[in-house]
Amino acid sequence: MKLVRIAPSILSADFSCLAEQVQKIEAGGAELLHFDVMDGHFVPNLTFGPQLIRALRSKSRLIFDVHLMIEHPERYLHDFVDAGADLLTVSAEACSHLHRILQQIRSLGIKAGAALNPATPLSALEYVLDELDLVLVMSVNPGFGGQEFIPAILPKITKLKEMLGDRPVEIAVDGGITPDNAAVVVAAGATILVAGTAIFGAQDTTLAIKMLQTGKRLV
Ligand code: DX5
Ligand code: ZN
Repeated sequence: MKLVRIAPSILSADFSCLAEQVQKIEAGGAELLHFDVMDGHFVPNLTFGPQLIRALRSKSRLIFDVHLMIEHPERYLHDFVDAGADLLTVSAEACSHLHRILQQIRSLGIKAGAALNPATPLSALEYVLDELDLVLVMSVNPGFGGQEFIPAILPKITKLKEMLGDRPVEIAVDGGITPDNAAVVVAAGATILVAGTAIFGAQDTTLAIKMLQTGKRLV
C-alpha cells in the first residue's frame, strides 16, 4: 500500500536554525516542505515571503509546497516560482478568478493547488477540477499552528475523493494532524498530510514522521 506523503509545516520550526531543521526532516523521511505564507489580511497572522523559500532552496531537495494564505495571490506567483516553489496552493476564498490563477500557475511550469477553509463547500472547486494538481483541505481555520483538528472535515475529504474520481489530484489535509488522527484522515482519502506541531514540536522528528506515515503511535 502506498504510504501517505508527509509535508512538515515550517511555521512550527525553530526559525533560529531553519536550514538544520529542514535537513533533519529531509533525512527523517519527509518528501515535501510546507511553507505557510500569510499576509495579515486573508488570515490574522503575518509570516514570510519568497525570500525564505529562496534562502532554503539550495539547502534541500524536498518538494517545496507553498501555501498562500494571502489576498491577491496572482500578484506574487512569479516571485514564488522564481524563489524555488514546486507547488503553489492558493486559497480559493481569496481568488476572484480561481480558474485563471490555476492556469497561470501551471503556465509557470509548476503544480497548482487550491485550499478550502473548513466552512467552504467542495462546490467551490466543481468547475476547476481539471486545472488542479492538489486540493488542500483545511482541517483548522487558517492562520496558526497548534490548533485542534476539526472532525467535521472527515466526510468532506471522502466527498472530495469521490468528486475527483480517477483524476491525478493529490488530497492534502492541513491542520491539527497528529499520530492519533493520521490513520482516520488517510482512510478518509488524504494522500498528503501537512503537520507542523506534531513534527517540529516532537522530541524525535524522524519518529514523529514515521508515526504519521504509519498512522501508529510508536511511543
Ligand atoms: C495553518 C497552516 C497549517 C499549520 C499546521 O494556517 O496552514 O499548515 O501550520 O500546523 P499544525 O500541524 O500545528 O496544525
Ligand atoms: Zn498550511
